[in-house]
Amino acid sequence: MSGEGLPDKVGAAREISMPACGFQPSAYEGPPAEEVLAVRRQFLNPGIFLYYKKPLMLVEGRMQYVWDEAGRRYLDGLGGIVTVSVGHCHPHVIEAVRRQNEPLQHSTTIYLHPNVSEYARILASKMPGDLKVFYFLNSGSEATDLALLMARAYTGNFDIIALRNAYHGGNAAGLSVTGHSTWKFNVPHSFGVHHAVTPDPYRGRYGCDDKEAGKKFAMDVRELVDFASPGRIAGFIAESIQGVGGCVVFPDGYLGEVYRLIRAAGGLCIADEVQTGFGRVGSHFWGFQTQSVTPDIVTMAKGIGNGVPLAAVATTREIANVLAERIHFNTFGGNPVAAAAGKAVLEVIEKENLQENALRIGDYLLSGLEKLKLKHALIGDVRGKGLLLGIELVRDRATKEPAREECARVLDHARENGLLLGKGGFWGQTIRIAPPMCIGRPDAEFMLDVLNQAIELA
Ligand SMILES: Cc1ncc(COP(=O)(O)O)c(C=O)c1O
Repeated sequence: MSGEGLPDKVGAAREISMPACGFQPSAYEGPPAEEVLAVRRQFLNPGIFLYYKKPLMLVEGRMQYVWDEAGRRYLDGLGGIVTVSVGHCHPHVIEAVRRQNEPLQHSTTIYLHPNVSEYARILASKMPGDLKVFYFLNSGSEATDLALLMARAYTGNFDIIALRNAYHGGNAAGLSVTGHSTWKFNVPHSFGVHHAVTPDPYRGRYGCDDKEAGKKFAMDVRELVDFASPGRIAGFIAESIQGVGGCVVFPDGYLGEVYRLIRAAGGLCIADEVQTGFGRVGSHFWGFQTQSVTPDIVTMAKGIGNGVPLAAVATTREIANVLAERIHFNTFGGNPVAAAAGKAVLEVIEKENLQENALRIGDYLLSGLEKLKLKHALIGDVRGKGLLLGIELVRDRATKEPAREECARVLDHARENGLLLGKGGFWGQTIRIAPPMCIGRPDAEFMLDVLNQAIELA
């Protein structure tokens, strides 16, 4: 997944100036990037990958910007993989964490702490329906694991339906429902899991021009219930927009129809809001709301903590009561520092109208990307909601041959110009945009300028 081995066309790039920024980073005094890379190669997990031909080291961040060790500034167009929701080192979050770090860093769930209860109370006000009970965890993968356990324990059924092209985490439960061979190992981690066809209006069987596409795609879920399971289902899990899979937005009505089928088969509906939650989709606070559904279980991570390791599962009291039949414990599920960060993130989203900003800047970016599509044949599709956007690159619009190498080159060109982007999709053919939600119009203009040039040179 690194850009190694790609022809270097960066030399042809023209300098595009970044929007001004008043923040002055400190002088970096640590080891050089080459040394960090050598140590990482020697002592760190060899399965992790790096972006860019020349790996990037980041040492400081402020709001939508990050700096490398040489003091070069970048616009963070990926938000640390959709994790920095309100801005790098947002002063309100930093202060909340600092204030709680001093009196007590850790307590755990066997004691009371006011932060944790208070945070749950405030988060509950953001949830629709009866989704008012929370489990706090450390990562999205853990949240997936707990959600599957809940669905199985509550229903007494075992089979789970997930989607192809999904990503739900790197632990056993996460990999079982993930639908990409890229991440899966040759071990039996998928017993009872069935993957339905991706409801992808660009690559799938039914396109955006088909008003019934949502219902038609949902028929595959019905077939799995009827022909691949005992007819009784524990649950259905889906991201509300597939993130790692390349920003795949489902056709209207898809989740509504699937939820109906799953509930008729005795199952619970799980929404993975790890990337789509906390206002990022702009029009709504949660991604599932864009499909007019209310899940039974919601998983959250990444943007919930703006970079602090925090995750959560929300469900109803009735479902949670079944899990109370056994002791349930998570060491950090009652961490007062993480809860302080989570509460501060919610306060910033509200105070700074970041959901509204995600909608406004996201719409502006999307219409700019549509214009780029008219200009560059390499762009097969642009899509997304709010500040979760994707640009799928193809070598040929008719065959939709994925333009994987070109996508990696776009990322390299953009980095040379000071813009960090992501890539996704099964073939690494889709550019992903998910900046901190505090970005402004000049940042969006800069992004479009850089993308225009990078795609031209790719
Ligand atoms: C949609 C989704 N769910 C779950 C996860 C797993 O989260 P984590 O890496 O925190 O375990 C991810 C991570 O990228 C994700 O994108």
